[in-house]
Amino acid sequence: MMNILKMKNYEEMSKAAADYIMNKIRQHSDITLGLATGGTPVGTYKNLIQDHSQNGTSYKNVTTFNLDEYIGLSGENRNSYRYFMNSTLFDHLDIQKKNTHIPSGVAKDMEEECLNYEGMLKHHGGIDLQILGIGSNGHIGFNEPGTPFSSKTQIVDLASSTREANARFFSNINEVPTQAITVGISTIMQSREILLLVSGESKSEAVQQLLYGDIDEQFPASVLRLHPNVKIIADEAALAGS
Ligand code: GLP
Repeated sequence: MMNILKMKNYEEMSKAAADYIMNKIRQHSDITLGLATGGTPVGTYKNLIQDHSQNGTSYKNVTTFNLDEYIGLSGENRNSYRYFMNSTLFDHLDIQKKNTHIPSGVAKDMEEECLNYEGMLKHHGGIDLQILGIGSNGHIGFNEPGTPFSSKTQIVDLASSTREANARFFSNINEVPTQAITVGISTIMQSREILLLVSGESKSEAVQQLLYGDIDEQFPASVLRLHPNVKIIADEAALAGS
């Protein structure tokens, strides 16, 4: 079941998403969150930080698992997702760093890192609430078109459109890694609840495809229609045409 909440713009979307997440945290202080990177959740994270400092919502017992990381970038690299998460969110909350998990992009044995990450997630009891963004080609995490719905945490080649879209964070496109480690589609689908955030006109075609297209591995996000508990918070621009 996909439930859609339409908000006026990016700011309103971010506020609604943060309100939803912080209410869950207040109800379940030991919640396990699945977190995403990219531009879309930044406003949501800002609102969470503001609420933490103003209202004291605590993350002391919260655990997080991020979706993905670039291969070849260590946590000290400013373009790594570990660096992004620390600087955009974790450093501003009372969360315990040891409870924040992001796959390593520089493990000696990357195949083993995939198994370890998947195992750690399972051992921990899975994700209560997964925050997701969507790529314009329908990717979720870094699972590009054609990824089997049955996939678990894995190494993937990035689509050239994904590298181009993310080049804005790097000094030039040649610096964008060609591979990533990402939790798989079946891993994402095991989350008890999914909150998908979508903003902007550049995502409107992807939203149409998600809502009305075929459920097909060529459009990874379409799998979400098979999940029993998905909430989409989108702005008007992303929902244009719906
Ligand atoms: C990135 C991330 C995804 C993200 C997506 C959209 O490559 N790996 O997790 O949802 O692409 O990013 P943005 O929110 O910047 O549009």
